[in-house]
Amino acid sequence: MSSAAPLSQRSDMVVFLNGEYLPADQARVGVLTHALSYGTGVFEGIRGYWNAETEENYLFRLREHFERMHKSARILQIKIPHTVDELIEIAVELVRRNGLRENCYVKPLAYKADETIGVKLHDLADHFYMLAVPMGDYVSTTGLRCGVSSWRRVDDNMIPARAKVSGAYVNSAFAKTEAQQSGFDEAIMLTSEGHVSEGSAENIFLLINNELVTPPPSENILLGVTRDTVMQIARREMDRITRERVVDRTELYIADEIFLTGTGAQIAPVIEVDHRPVGAGKIGPLGGEMQRLYGEIVRGKKPEYMEWLTPVYGSAPKRVPMPVQADVAHNGHNGHNGVSVQKPAKVKAARPAAQ
Ligand SMILES: Cc1ncc(COP(=O)(O)O)c(C=O)c1O
Repeated sequence: MSSAAPLSQRSDMVVFLNGEYLPADQARVGVLTHALSYGTGVFEGIRGYWNAETEENYLFRLREHFERMHKSARILQIKIPHTVDELIEIAVELVRRNGLRENCYVKPLAYKADETIGVKLHDLADHFYMLAVPMGDYVSTTGLRCGVSSWRRVDDNMIPARAKVSGAYVNSAFAKTEAQQSGFDEAIMLTSEGHVSEGSAENIFLLINNELVTPPPSENILLGVTRDTVMQIARREMDRITRERVVDRTELYIADEIFLTGTGAQIAPVIEVDHRPVGAGKIGPLGGEMQRLYGEIVRGKKPEYMEWLTPVYGSAPKRVPMPVQADVAHNGHNGHNGVSVQKPAKVKAARPAAQ
């Protein structure tokens, strides 16, 4: 099967499904699967960065992604049959078994699996898969033109944005398609109150009056791992404290710099919003510097951040103590989880049939 074939038809790629490493063309779900009908799944998106010099693939902040996934699952009453340590080991094993020596994307999904008709969360079987595929840029990193969406971000008491729920991505898809069909690159979504929330799959940062600002968790955002990373880089490398506060729509029009952040988007500077140039209409100094630092950190080029990386092919990570939490000025509760050593644990999983 050629490498252009869909994953589901490939026998040369390995997928982890319900405790087993299987050739991708043997990893199947039924057409009546609950999550396919009703969007009742929670997932993560994790990047691996290939470093050709060290011949290593570094998976970025696995622990934080899997901790968030466990929280998402709690919200949806889904039981994930693996601990965070086991999930880390599965991710490493998957990338290794697929021999990925390029930038890649790891996607675990925990979902309601019963083949049944009926909308609910309880008394349904939960299944789990994880896959790893090659991945390039998700959005342009050379300057995005954004439009404020007419679609509002889902509210915490509708579909909670803090949980990465597969069904909630219909909200993002509406916004993204509207933006692109209107000639923009990406959407910026507002809350139902009209405050800035986030992009279709990215958090947002603004530089206003020389202050780095981002909407707080109460503005219906996904608490991004990259968002936390940016706050930590800003504090440690730039001596800047990020202020989490409510952001008005028109602040998008007067900001000196704006950038979107996400595992997929990485650090994506915004150069235009609703046809108005952001600052000088080109990548600003802060966004540019953030891109540079982030790019070095994720590729293992800054030893003091190696704790965030899990090497796949075995080079020993240099373990340097890091602060537990980003210092952020915020109104309300705090953003994100701490940092800890990412040591793969043992997982009991069947070996693949075809290896
Ligand atoms: C809606 C939404 N917001 C924000 C983000 C950024 O989150 P992270 O940095 O953890 O990838 C994502 C990423 O997938 C997302 O889908």
